[in-house]
Amino acid sequence: MEKAIIGGTGVYEIGQKVSKKLIETKYGEVEIDVVTIEGEEIVFLPRHGKSHAVPPHLVNYRANIMALKQMGVKYVYATAAVGSFNENYEPGDVVVLKDFLDFTKSRPLTFFEGEDGVVRHVDMSDPYCSNLRAKFYNAAKKEGLLIKGDAVYVCTEGPRFETAQEIRMYKNLGADVVGMTNIPEVILAKELGMCYAAVGIVSNWATGMKGSITLHEIKDTLELSKEKVIKTFIRVFLE
Ligand code: HPA
Repeated sequence: MEKAIIGGTGVYEIGQKVSKKLIETKYGEVEIDVVTIEGEEIVFLPRHGKSHAVPPHLVNYRANIMALKQMGVKYVYATAAVGSFNENYEPGDVVVLKDFLDFTKSRPLTFFEGEDGVVRHVDMSDPYCSNLRAKFYNAAKKEGLLIKGDAVYVCTEGPRFETAQEIRMYKNLGADVVGMTNIPEVILAKELGMCYAAVGIVSNWATGMKGSITLHEIKDTLELSKEKVIKTFIRVFLE
């Protein structure tokens, strides 16, 4: 199975579930769904578990990505709920992640631990596969999904939300949206040679932009856009 979708907050199921698989990896066990869409088998992995039980800083990212690799996955689309501090990207909008700033603090960030005596540095000049990004833009047009644009994503450690001053800093550094999960996911996928792209679904204004944030509000807003995003992923995979 070469294609996978990683579902972020609010995206816990897609398509017609065919089977559940428990994948054993060096980093732990991962439960994934195999779904069939128009005869094509696609791997689906809900990042936080089915009931959003694992907080962002404790997600076993290495096990998740290794499980996909072991299944033969080469292409990954992920969704990420994001807060926006770019006035042009409003709650409900969909953006395509183009680059990132890593402000995480305590997560295992790599598969490259030097055990085999080799030091490796993965290239990050195109962190989100430009091929998959272009395909997503094309498919979105056909699916009637409006993509607001590309976004620079800042990943915070969480699980707390950011302060208003932190958001001002991230804005000054050139970022557009904030989330807690795309690092190290995108890095690990790259280390294993997979093409990985991620779509940000804006669920709220970031701290200090307009009002305060609740998870409840985030989940409600995501409902509005997620169906079309998933349909667009599937269209890319089927073409
Ligand atoms: N901050 C961090 N992570 C998030 C946010 C946010 O405002 N919204 C959704 N995920």
